[in-house]
Amino acid sequence: MTDAVLLEKWFAILNKIGINEDGSASRLGYTDKEDAMIAAVVGIAAEYGLKHYADEVGNVFIYNGSGEDNYTLIGSHVDSVVQGGTFDGVAGVLAGLLTLKKIGEQNLNIPVKTGIFRMEESSVFGIACVGSKLVTGNIDEAALKKAANADGVSLYEIITQRGYKTNPAKIKNIKQYLELHIEQGRVLEAKGLPLGIVNSIAAPVRMWVKFTGNQDHSGATPMDLRKDSLVGAAELIVALEAFGRAELANSSVATTGIVRNTPNVFNVVPGETMLGLDIRGIDKASRARVLNETEQKARNIAAERGLKCEITRVSESDPVMLDPALQKSLLQTAEKLGIPALVMPSGAGHDAMFFTELCPVGMVFIPCKEGISHNKEEHAKIEDIVTGCNVLFEYLHPRA
Ligand code: GLV
Ligand code: MN
Ligand code: MN
Repeated sequence: MTDAVLLEKWFAILNKIGINEDGSASRLGYTDKEDAMIAAVVGIAAEYGLKHYADEVGNVFIYNGSGEDNYTLIGSHVDSVVQGGTFDGVAGVLAGLLTLKKIGEQNLNIPVKTGIFRMEESSVFGIACVGSKLVTGNIDEAALKKAANADGVSLYEIITQRGYKTNPAKIKNIKQYLELHIEQGRVLEAKGLPLGIVNSIAAPVRMWVKFTGNQDHSGATPMDLRKDSLVGAAELIVALEAFGRAELANSSVATTGIVRNTPNVFNVVPGETMLGLDIRGIDKASRARVLNETEQKARNIAAERGLKCEITRVSESDPVMLDPALQKSLLQTAEKLGIPALVMPSGAGHDAMFFTELCPVGMVFIPCKEGISHNKEEHAKIEDIVTGCNVLFEYLHPRA
């Protein structure tokens, strides 16, 4: 079976899990759907004699028994956003699996583990890369206790109820971390290139802005006597977009992803509106400008409209630069295989970010259709995934 046919087969197995009627995937982190995805990957791995174990927080590692020390970790995730696609994260995990299979077939002694990290997506709790942050010491219990879903249940409760720890030992003995991921942007496709070598990863700040006004009768309350929290929030949404646009040249981006409006009915002036904001960048000064302007604007809107405004930062991580030597090696490997590649930044976040303090980190991107991601239309060509896998394998086991 060719690698392409094999990958198609593996995707078909996984694409039976967590698929909604409209074809989108909802496989949220630390849910039964994520468990089912992990069990299915482990099941495929077992067919090739590969072993696995789970760590204290539920991340799962598949390995080939070539030794524990100084191993290459190929990581990614199998959870998705709400109504997401089927390639984000999964392509990287299957790339790790394919690499392990090739190593086994050729009886090579290359210590490699494929890591499946829990809850990479921040859809529900506002915190991304939870599994990889936990085992690299990048998140503490206080942050997990503070992060809550729409029902007020904390991430700490979710993780501990599932029997996992929230203060695990730090992962160790990693020689290098590699990740293959769909680009989630349009650059590679537009340039007609099959491969990207990532040089940096933008980092998000996520925050809640809560406006509180007066919940009133929508018929009986004159326009000049209202304190409408939703209208204040609407002003901030538009301003946030403008602050993001002003930083276009510096690649910062700003999104209002969540609006929680109370009571959210036809005949009541809204009394409380929460906005969930995601502000990201590679240039920290640029990102800081967007953050400061947003916080200042929220306070000004509140003062002008007689609203109360509370701002809570949910998560914040730093942009990272990936290892220059590893970038060069991956680029040279691609050149050797005759694969044209582009060195490029990543606007999306990845588990890779949290390993840069522990070991050299390298990432390869493969194109995805029209750059669409976090959407049921997300699609990558199997042959592009194979190309990315070939680069990883050649890098780990260069031909003479
Ligand atoms: C990960 O998908 C992110 O939100 O960057
Ligand atoms: Mn994602
Ligand atoms: Mn991802």
